[in-house]
Amino acid sequence: MTDTPGMNLENIQHHALEALAAVRTGDDLAQWRVTHLGRSSAVMAVFSGLGKLPADIRPQTGQKANQVKLELEAAFEEKVVQIRQSELSVSLQTNRVDITLPGRPARRGRLHPAMQNLRDIYKVFAEMGFQVYRSPDVETDEYNFELLNIPAHHPARDMWQTFYTTKPGVLLRTHTSPGQIWAMRERAPDSIRVILPGMCYRYEQITTRSEIQFHQVEGLMVGKNVTLADLKGTLTDFSRRMFGQNVRTRFRPSYFPFTEPSAEMDVECFLCGGHGCTVCKNAGWLEILGCGMVHPEVLRNGGYDPEIFSGFAFGMGPERITMLRRHIDDIRYFWGNDMRFLEQF
Ligand code: DAH
Repeated sequence: MTDTPGMNLENIQHHALEALAAVRTGDDLAQWRVTHLGRSSAVMAVFSGLGKLPADIRPQTGQKANQVKLELEAAFEEKVVQIRQSELSVSLQTNRVDITLPGRPARRGRLHPAMQNLRDIYKVFAEMGFQVYRSPDVETDEYNFELLNIPAHHPARDMWQTFYTTKPGVLLRTHTSPGQIWAMRERAPDSIRVILPGMCYRYEQITTRSEIQFHQVEGLMVGKNVTLADLKGTLTDFSRRMFGQNVRTRFRPSYFPFTEPSAEMDVECFLCGGHGCTVCKNAGWLEILGCGMVHPEVLRNGGYDPEIFSGFAFGMGPERITMLRRHIDDIRYFWGNDMRFLEQF
C-alpha cells in the first residue's frame, strides 16, 4: 500500500462508492453521508492534512480531493432519488388501494322534519300571496293576552297555561297570535296578508298529543270586504294543496276571544283513515287549526277602524300536521333528539 495521497484518494472514493451501492434505505443513506462526507470522513481528513504535505504536491492533492468530494456528493444525490422511488413503489405495492371495496357512506345533515314541514306550509301560503312575518318569542302580557281581548282574570286565560318570567308582565308566548298585533301596528292602514310562524310555550303536561314547546303558524288577512267566505276558501284551498285534492275538511263553531265568529277546522285523520286511533282520540278527525273573523276590538288595537276594515285569522300546529302526513303517533319524538327518529326524514 503506497502512501501517495492521490492513490489514497482513489481508494477512498472507491471504498465510499462501494458502500453506497450497498445502501438500500433512507436511514442507511443518511448514515453513509455522515461516514463518507461528514466532518470526520476520510476525504475531509485529506483536506485538513493538506497543510502538512510538501508544497509541490499540495495543489494537485487539493484539486483531487475536491473532485472526489464533488463526485461523492453527486453520487449521493443520485442515490437519494433512487431510494425515494424504490420506497414509493414498495408502499404502492403494500398499501395498494382496493378499488373493489364498497365506499363508506357519507353522513349528510338535513332539515329537521318540523322544519321541512314548515317550509312546505310557507310554500303553499306563498303561492296564495301570504308573506312570512316574525314576532318575538318573549312577549308581554299585553300583547299575548290583553290586546287580543283577553283581559286579566278573564276565564279564557285557562286555555293557555303560561310560562312566566321573573320580570312581571313578561312571559313566553303561549301562541303566535300576539304577532297579529305587531303586524297590524306596523302595516295599518294598509291591507295585510301574512303568516306568522314561530315557537310557542305552554306549562302543560307532556303527552303523546301535547308538548310544552311546539310551533304554530298564525295567519292574518286584513282589508276592506274580507269575509268569512274568504276564510273558508283560503283554508280549504290550503288543505287541498297540503294534503291532496281529495282531502275532507270540516269547520266546527268554536270560541276564541280574539275572533268573532270563531271556528276550528278538522282534517280527516289519515293515520287511521277516519276509523279512530290514539292520535285522533278515536274521533276520525284531527283538529289542525283555530280560526275566525278578527274581533273588532283586536282590529282597533291593531290600528284599524272596524267600521271600514275586516279580517280573518287562523292558527295551526304544524307538528300535528306533520304527524298526520308522516304517520307519527307521538308528538314527543319531535324534540326528543332521537337519531333513529330524525334519520327517517
Ligand atoms: N291562538 C290560538 C291558540 O293558540 C289559535 C288561534 C285560534 C289562532 C283562532 C287564531 C285564531 O288566529 O283566529 O290556541
